[in-house]
Amino acid sequence: AGGPWEECFELAVQLALRAGQIIRKALSEEKQVSTKTSAADLVTETDQLVEDLIISEMQKRFPSHRFIAEEAAAAGAKCVLTPSPTWIIDPIDGTCNFVHRFPTVAVSIGFAVNQELEFGVIYHCTEERLYTGRRGRGAFCNGQRLQVSGETDLSKALVLTEIGPKRDPATLKLFLSNMERLLHAKAHGVRVIGSSTLALCLLASGAADAYYQFGLHCWDLAAATVIIREAGGIVMDTSGGPLDLMSCRVVAAGTREMATLIAQALQTINYGRDDEK
Ligand code: IPD
Repeated sequence: AGGPWEECFELAVQLALRAGQIIRKALSEEKQVSTKTSAADLVTETDQLVEDLIISEMQKRFPSHRFIAEEAAAAGAKCVLTPSPTWIIDPIDGTCNFVHRFPTVAVSIGFAVNQELEFGVIYHCTEERLYTGRRGRGAFCNGQRLQVSGETDLSKALVLTEIGPKRDPATLKLFLSNMERLLHAKAHGVRVIGSSTLALCLLASGAADAYYQFGLHCWDLAAATVIIREAGGIVMDTSGGPLDLMSCRVVAAGTREMATLIAQALQTINYGRDDEK
């Protein structure tokens, strides 16, 4: 009764919990920090260790499966989603938080077949919250069913976003002016917690009404997208069109009305595409 990808889902849960334990322990220890695409795009030895652990265990069980993962991509691996079963992995989402011991850090594991997302597993390492979503089977946090908020009015919305890695003056100006536009529209508040995946899980939980970001990656989006959709929410492109996992941008909300209002308010920040890097 488990469905065709039950074994994969169970392995994802098991590895997310195992990785979470390693991350939780490493959070309070000294770290070797390096930068990637910008001074605000960080990586530690734990990111690499956890990614290697997850991928090697998955490869042992499912040798024909493909992988898209943050640190492999940073090392030059291509991000292409083929019809083959594909794992989409962020070993530590919120690396900057992790470096600063700010306790909002997650492991994110998404799984797609025929270019369609089948399930997502996100583990909040310090609060020990396991978020899961399976296509057609609902979204849960530690066994409790998730449901998005039904808010449609931007002037009653709590909105989440993330800054993204680029910090040049033109990008920062656009980032701040997008935030300003939402505050002018009288959104109740805008929050930045330092982890795209956990912000998206809060949206899935109904703890916020909308999320938008430019500059995130497919491994920040894959697992969370299933969780939000299965909690009744909408995940779309910032143009208002369908989500493109490789486009480095997203709007998500509890309702289509809210997502559309946010998309209409935003100016585009160009981050290129994951599949063209
Ligand atoms: C990043 C974080 C950050 C967001 C970036 C993500 P990482 O993931 O979620 O808050 O602004 O877009 O890429 O690098 O910590 O895995």
